[in-house]
Formats: sequence, C-alpha cells, structure tokens
Amino acid sequence: MTKPNIPEGFDPTDPELMAERVPHEELAELRRHAPVHWIPQPREVGGFDDDGYWAVTSHELIREVSRDDKTYSSWENTAIVRFADYITREQIEMQRTILLNQDAPEHTKLRGIISRGFTPRAIATLRGALTERAEQIVSGANTDETGDFVTKVAAELPLQAIAELLGVPQEDRGQLFRWTNEMMGYDDPANAEVDPAQSSMEMLGYAYNMAEKRREEPADDIITKLLDASIDGEALSSEEFGFFVLLLAVAGNETTRNAITHGVLAFMDNPEQWKIWREERPKTMADEVVRWATPVTVFQRTATCDTELGGKEIKKGDRVAMFYISGNRDEEVFDDPYAFDITRDPNAHLGFGGTGAHFCIGTHLARLEIELIFNAIADVMPDITKLGEAKRLPSAWLNGIKELEVDFTGKCP
Ligand code: HEM
Repeated sequence: MTKPNIPEGFDPTDPELMAERVPHEELAELRRHAPVHWIPQPREVGGFDDDGYWAVTSHELIREVSRDDKTYSSWENTAIVRFADYITREQIEMQRTILLNQDAPEHTKLRGIISRGFTPRAIATLRGALTERAEQIVSGANTDETGDFVTKVAAELPLQAIAELLGVPQEDRGQLFRWTNEMMGYDDPANAEVDPAQSSMEMLGYAYNMAEKRREEPADDIITKLLDASIDGEALSSEEFGFFVLLLAVAGNETTRNAITHGVLAFMDNPEQWKIWREERPKTMADEVVRWATPVTVFQRTATCDTELGGKEIKKGDRVAMFYISGNRDEEVFDDPYAFDITRDPNAHLGFGGTGAHFCIGTHLARLEIELIFNAIADVMPDITKLGEAKRLPSAWLNGIKELEVDFTGKCP
C-alpha cells in the first residue's frame, strides 16, 4: 500500500464538499491505496466521543463489514451526523427504536415481522395503483413547459408508494406528506417555523391510531398482515407500528426521490441510454440507476471489540464508515464503472447496502417505483431536457439533489 494522494483535511462526509460534488477522484485514490483509512474529524463537529472514523472504500471490505453485524454494530446510529448540536446522546438512544439502528436480537425479531410486508408478492400487489399514480404525476407535471423535476416528479411517487403500502386513505395523505416533509426538515421556507420533533410526535400518534383501528376492523391489506404477524408469540405493538411508519418516512422517501432525480439526469446526459430505455425497457435499468446514484453515500457501524480490517487495527468503539458510493465505482468489480449502462448485468452494487442483516427492506418497492416513473416519463415526456445544473444538497450521508430545472417538452431553446 502506498500513501493515498488526498488533500489535507479531506473528509468525504463534509456537507459543504457534498453540496459541490461527489469526491470520486479522492475516493478512488483511497480505494486503491488505503481502502481502510482513518479520517480525522474534529470533536466539535463530530457529536461523538472520538475524533475521527475509519473510511472503508473497497467493495470487498464494505461487504465484509456489513455482513459481520456482531463485530460491527448499528446501535450507535448508522447515519453519520457531523453537527454536535444536532445529535445528542438522548437522540442516539431514541433512534434505536427504529430497525435501522438496532442489533440482534431486537433487530432480528422486528425485521422478521416487518419483512412480511415487503416480499416481492406483497409489493407486486401495489403495481396497478402505483402505475396509475406515476402516470398522474408525470402527466400533471407535463401540463407546464418547464419546472423543477424534484418537486414536480421525483418527490411525489415515493410518498404515494408509502401511503399506498400502508393503506392511508386519500383524505389523510396531504397531512402525512406535510408531516414527512417537516420531519425531514426540507428546505421549504414554509417549514422554517416548524419543529420536526413535534411533527414526528403527531405522525406517531396518527400511526398509533391507524394500528388500533385496523385491530378493530381488519382489512385485506399489508398493515393488517403486519399487525397479525407474530414471531415466538410476540407481535408488533401499536407503538412499534408507529415507529415503523416513521422509519418508512425516513428510509423510503429521500432515497428513492434522489435515485429518480439522478436517474433522469443520467438519462439526459446519456441520450443513447435514453434511446435504449425508450425502445427496449431492459429489466436491469433500476439497479443501474441505484448504483449510479447511490443515494445513501455512506452508513456507519461501531466496532464492538478490537479487530482487524484490511490490515488496519480497529479498536472497540471506533466508528467504521462504509462508503457505498466508492464501492459502487470499484474497478475490481465493475467493468467501466464510471459509465451509466442500463443493460449492466451482473450488477452487484451496494446502493441498497452490503447484503448483511440490514440490507434494504424496500428494494422491491424502490425498483418498482423507478421502473414505473421512467415508463411514464418515456411515454409522456420523452423529450425532457435539462435547463441548468442540478442544485445539490449539503449532506453528510445523502447524495442529494434539491432542485433540477427541466423543460418537460424539450421545446425550449
Ligand atoms: C435500509 C438504501 C428505498 C426501507 C437501507 C440501507 C440502505 C438503503 C443503504 C442499509 C442500511 C444499513 O446497512 O445500515 C435505499 C435506497 C433506496 C431505498 C438507495 C431507494 C433507491 C427504500 C424504500 C423503503 C426502504 C422504498 C421502504 C418504503 C428501508 C428500511 C431499511 C433500509 C426499513 C432498514 C433495514 C434494516 O435495518 O434491517 N436502505 N433504500 N428503503 N431501507 Fe432502504
């Protein structure tokens, strides 16, 4: 191993850097020369008791970490958060109520129940309704000549998909979407005065009542199945159901929204790929969009014991960050990794995580949403053209696009 040639103070979780670009060159340098590398992070921005973290950048080692959930725990928060005033000890503890931040045995039990709602068969039942929603969203946006692709197209379907999955009645959806946006602190000026904690509490209350209602009046839907399911005699309580709804709002929204936005951008930048999609609709498209976008750039674990990884000594309590965005460009695994190729097959990407116990539970739903939205775009607005550069989101762990101005008709000069 030679010393990686990266700038002094380089930190791939720096939101200011991510607001400008994904640091692909620096990550490639790490991947080749130091696939497990200590990144110092001054204490005042860490919010943790340490002063840095291990950046894991090769496909192979990312998989090794995510498959070994005994050595690498999710208990100390999986999302990297850089601001001390944002994350406190109490918040980390509260976040453990959601699956993403749990370890076995709690994780195994909860995931066993929840995963029943996400099987290919359960998700396939949503195809008809979501096809209709995707067509409505795209046709609605198409009535204007130009506009922001993120708010007009990409943001809508993931919200509708979760509402559909949960069987939320139409009249309540507007409220559910408002809570979600407020909770996620989206940049909307209308949210400036809103307290995200208050919105989460209100959403929890709503989900709790929804669970109680379904217990009284069971229906033929996924919620009823989830509430009926039990493992070792333990079923989902109404509180657990509430946190599950919060988790979906966090895990299923911004991720899919950014996959769709990066996907449309990649298609507009690679017209030959758009032609392939319009004419052949290859089944491999959705996974290439997720590899290309890698909406979750990085998730972290915490070492439960002293160990060794890629020749480096990891100490108990060290944070270990898996840079999926780097693994997804690993030349050892992907031919021509910087090419967007919707016929890529095989495609062992890490966009949904590294195949361990926490592998994304929403993969079938996300793939379906991506397929349906690009079907609708190809049918209704095949000449979509970008009108400027994408405005990126400052985030430590999301590869986000806030705004993407497009011409839906392709007619503007
Ligand atoms: C977990 C990415 C869509 C629900 C994950 C993880 C990743 C990820 C990387 C792994 C977390 C870890 O290892 O710690 C994505 C991407 C998506 C997407 C890129 C869209 C393109 C969805 C959707 C849903 C969903 C649509 C549900 C509606 C979840 C849940 C987990 C998870 C519940 C936690 C699983 C666990 O901890 O056992 N996702 N996700 N995701 N995802 Fe997704």
